[in-house]
Amino acid sequence: LHVDWDDQAAEKGGYAHFMLKEIHEGPRTVQDTLRGRLAKEERIAFPGLSLTPQDLQRFERIAIVGCGTAYHAGAVGKRWLEQWLRRPVEISVASEFRYSDPIVGPDTLVILISQSGETADTLAAMREAKARGATTLAIVNVIGSTLAREADAVILTQAGPEIGVASTKAYLAQLVVLALLGLFLAQLESPGGLPPHLQTLVSALPEMPQLLERCLQQEEAIKALARKLVSSKSFFYLGRGLDYATALEAALKLKEISYLHAEAYPAGEMKHGPLALIEPGVAVIGISTQSLTREKMESNLKEVKARQGTVVVVEPEGVVSDGADERIVLPSAPDYLMPILAIAPLQLLAYYIARERGCDIDQPRNLAKSVTVE
Ligand code: G6P
Repeated sequence: LHVDWDDQAAEKGGYAHFMLKEIHEGPRTVQDTLRGRLAKEERIAFPGLSLTPQDLQRFERIAIVGCGTAYHAGAVGKRWLEQWLRRPVEISVASEFRYSDPIVGPDTLVILISQSGETADTLAAMREAKARGATTLAIVNVIGSTLAREADAVILTQAGPEIGVASTKAYLAQLVVLALLGLFLAQLESPGGLPPHLQTLVSALPEMPQLLERCLQQEEAIKALARKLVSSKSFFYLGRGLDYATALEAALKLKEISYLHAEAYPAGEMKHGPLALIEPGVAVIGISTQSLTREKMESNLKEVKARQGTVVVVEPEGVVSDGADERIVLPSAPDYLMPILAIAPLQLLAYYIARERGCDIDQPRNLAKSVTVE
């Protein structure tokens, strides 16, 4: 008997690539990241957090900093925290923050997001923030990493080791921590109980793993969609608000592993220039999960269609936007939590397009999992 098996294949758990395995670990990652932080009586807690409620309530400013995928998680987090706390939240790419003479001081909480906790730009940003007297809170996946050791406080994501260079499950874990953190801070500000629209989110969080599982069940349809789109010369990912943040991450996934040109754009901004690039052979992925902007998204996508771009719309079940060539359907959930669901099929889409092109998915050219130079 000959068994074709090696250590690498065993580590991949039967999947062709670590990236695919890690996408499928998304639901479990969300579950693990929620565990212990969402008590039965629907109150959020961060056991072991070294900042007291008093510390957290004294900040007047919040800044979020990260690189790559971690920055994109921060772009979602910025919108959540701003809306839920009604306080301004700034977001910066770490390499820009550091040299921007940032306006941070003792009244600022600087949240640094990093999977590895070793990214040189993010470490430099943390040290800069500390030198200016800010309090630093790291959201990090690797216990004992430099960022986790040096930051004033740490919240661990529970994604487990991530091997694929393109980050997938760590992004989900970062989103879940940011949602928990935003709702936790909101809780501190409303001792009498969260307002109903935020309490709904606390109640919906435990359902996320199962809804995410449903997103991943569309794998065959997404594989077929990848075959249709693989010959496109260029990709635009469009969205508004939270969907724009998802668009940034979805476009990055495609760039990283398929080497195709992909760009994320706020959908309403297309008419101010990039619409000139739309012609047959250009694929446009419209992410439309937010009821507030659905109609506007629909008309933005019609403008693309009129220029003969190929339009794929990502929207919740029960909604059918007019004029799309293809649809990716998401389970419905509160609008605020849709970024947690919308990214999964788009990670799969990037994966299958890269696979159609025969790319080295787990080790893309020119990229490293952890970048330790500035
Ligand atoms: C590298 C990786 C990206 C990652 C970024 C930030 O560029 O290729 O996938 O998002 O670093 O990494 P971090 O470990 O700080 O999250």
